[in-house]
Amino acid sequence: MTTTPPGPALVMGAGSIGCWVGGRLQAAGTEVHFVGRPAVLEELRVSGLTLTDLDGRRTHLPPAQLHLHAEVPEPGGTATLRVPPALVLLCVKSGSTAEAAALLSLHLPPGTPVLSLQNGIANPAVASAAAPALDVIPGMVGFNVVHASPGHWHRGTIGELAAQAHPALQAWQPVFAAAGLPLALHADLVPVQWGKLLLNLNNPVNALSGMPLKRQLLDRDQRVVMAALIDEALAALAANGIAPARLTPVPPRLMPRMLRLPTALFRVLARASLRMDERALTSMAEDVARGRATEIDALSGEVVRLARAVGLSAPRNQWMLERLSQPRPGTMSGREMRAALGL
Ligand SMILES: NC(=O)c1ccc[n+]([C@@H]2O[C@H](COP(=O)([O-])OP(=O)(O)OC[C@H]3O[C@@H](n4cnc5c(N)ncnc54)[C@H](OP(=O)(O)O)[C@@H]3O)[C@@H](O)[C@H]2O)c1
Repeated sequence: MTTTPPGPALVMGAGSIGCWVGGRLQAAGTEVHFVGRPAVLEELRVSGLTLTDLDGRRTHLPPAQLHLHAEVPEPGGTATLRVPPALVLLCVKSGSTAEAAALLSLHLPPGTPVLSLQNGIANPAVASAAAPALDVIPGMVGFNVVHASPGHWHRGTIGELAAQAHPALQAWQPVFAAAGLPLALHADLVPVQWGKLLLNLNNPVNALSGMPLKRQLLDRDQRVVMAALIDEALAALAANGIAPARLTPVPPRLMPRMLRLPTALFRVLARASLRMDERALTSMAEDVARGRATEIDALSGEVVRLARAVGLSAPRNQWMLERLSQPRPGTMSGREMRAALGL
């Protein structure tokens, strides 16, 4: 299979995922265009793009090699983007999806494939509704990236990319693989999205604790809270006839039991999932620390809506939804969270 990219790629939302995935693709030979906010573009202009990972790999793209745009570029209308992108990577947070998709549709030809590399369930539908002429493809990111320092993003966990099978992605699959980003294609991504959402129910717990992910997962009180959020989601999924995909060695239905184990046992049994470095932090924790809106509605909010659709309730996810819709500064211990949730 050829690893020649079918054309340029455009990253919509140069942040943790956009810079990581776009940077790896560029390092492996794809022409990548980054659309981002002025502050991030300035970092990239000054420092270039540096990517590191938990295995000690380091990639650096100097500023002169980066195609940076403050707005979606008009193909053919700039000196650098001569042809329309063969793939757009939609990498904005859920609250920005509709606006970003609408901006893309103003400048890109109808039918341009747009791969949503976002958490939650609804982002691809939201993007499609805002940009019906674009061909939006659901995707899933199975690893964690943090903004380590100006121009530097660090991938602190293992994990792969997944997407809904789509003809436009077939030619990209070997390109992603050559970039060290294996992309699994699924006939139906919905079970994978829900499998990821179950894991993402740790995000609000992590954000409230303010702790690095690994230390937080080794705190049983916090795992008990995560288990309770997953219990509600599993009940809602079962009642709706949705079987979430297994994305870790432990099947989804056993995850709450595993999380409630004493830490000494959990540490041994969850060894594979704990393969992450001390810097890994959820993007929701970064959002709370920076006073930005969180994606809680796309995670716990989705569970609350799924439960309601079949006459169930999900009070602990509802609590997280309310608590993190307008996050207050400060942290909570696992014990305080348990007390607040009656656990
Ligand atoms: N980070 C992770 O480890 C991780 C892992 C798996 C999945 N995900 C998912 O991936 C998605 C992206 O997350 P992220 O952590 O990469 O977010 P991020 O670091 O906040 O990056 C998104 C960037 O896009 C910018 N942006 C938003 N709208 C824009 C627009 N119209 N034009 C230009 N730039 C725009 C944002 O700016 P503003 O902040 O000003 O809006 C931000 O700088 C989310 O759905 C997240 O849940 C993240």
